[in-house]
Amino acid sequence: MPRAKLQITFIGGGTMTCAILDGLTHSTSASSSAAQTSNYEYALSILVRRPEHAVELGERYSSAYITCDALDSRLWHTAEESLVEGHIILICTKPQDTREVCETICNAYNAAPTPAVLPTIATMCPGITAATLTSWLGPPRGFHIPFPVVRTMPNTPVSVGQGATAMFAPPQTGKLELQRLIEFFRVVSPCVEVLEEESLLDVAAAVSGSGPAYLFAMYRALVAAGVEWGLSEHAARAMVGQTAVGAGILTTNKREISLSAMIGNVCVPGGSTEKGIRVLSDRGLPEAVMEAVGKSLEANHRMKQS
Ligand SMILES: NC(=O)c1ccc[n+]([C@@H]2O[C@H](COP(=O)([O-])OP(=O)(O)OC[C@H]3O[C@@H](n4cnc5c(N)ncnc54)[C@H](OP(=O)(O)O)[C@@H]3O)[C@@H](O)[C@H]2O)c1
Repeated sequence: MPRAKLQITFIGGGTMTCAILDGLTHSTSASSSAAQTSNYEYALSILVRRPEHAVELGERYSSAYITCDALDSRLWHTAEESLVEGHIILICTKPQDTREVCETICNAYNAAPTPAVLPTIATMCPGITAATLTSWLGPPRGFHIPFPVVRTMPNTPVSVGQGATAMFAPPQTGKLELQRLIEFFRVVSPCVEVLEEESLLDVAAAVSGSGPAYLFAMYRALVAAGVEWGLSEHAARAMVGQTAVGAGILTTNKREISLSAMIGNVCVPGGSTEKGIRVLSDRGLPEAVMEAVGKSLEANHRMKQS
């Protein structure tokens, strides 16, 4: 059966846009089950603001349509021309650009002569609430309902089809719109958690949006320790990387075993690992992580006011 076509428009062509596009390529070429079982075929477009950036992205993502013009009709004349069933606009700019981007989207949508499909607007930034987004977007021409909005929080492992993505949709966003976003993100993100409370999206941002950086910091410290004690950088990184992959899979797949028990499984009582773990604990690793996540969360909350 032919798959329904969804248009996905990325606003901005930075780190997260490229991570998602790389992940789509990766998942398709690896024939991931989410890519194979998806009900949709995606028509991709990217709105950027610099012509040289458009050229650069065009060379990298030949299947995507790239434009610098928000009024470009190919972004908006979707339903009539290509039988597109729905349209998702992913705002992939920095949080401080979100208000301007919302105004651009609403103006461009309202200026398009045949806006037959009401796009769902998705953000991936912390702090900015669904109610604020709705007010910045304003009412869409030709519809008696506001733009459906969904807040998402992916992370950079989407680039290898291994992301974790949190989502929140306010009650006025339809189930179909949310389901389409879930399905799109599943292709690059085996973990999609739909949160019941909007405030938890900022917590997800501090834990899993920022999470890769915390884990990379740990891996970097482990590699440095290996090198300090004589391993080559190459060997240390290869071993730490694969250890992280395996530990990640164990954490995900063996949920019946607590993380404390998993630590215990590696620590023979009185053995070498136990001695090392005690140093991390005495030096306050859990407290340091708690404080780091707390600081991130505080910064995410402050974005509401900016
Ligand atoms: N990076 C992460 O690990 C991560 C993880 C989770 C969530 N996020 C969130 O994802 C969002 C994007 O982050 P990022 O790291 O991808 O940022 P980024 O690399 O700085 O990319 C932002 C892009 O937006 C473009 N842009 C800004 N205003 C624009 C406009 N009006 N029209 C079109 N393009 C515009 C910028 O263009 P120029 O190149 O011309 O400046 C830039 O290419 C942020 O809200 C961030 O909080 C990021």
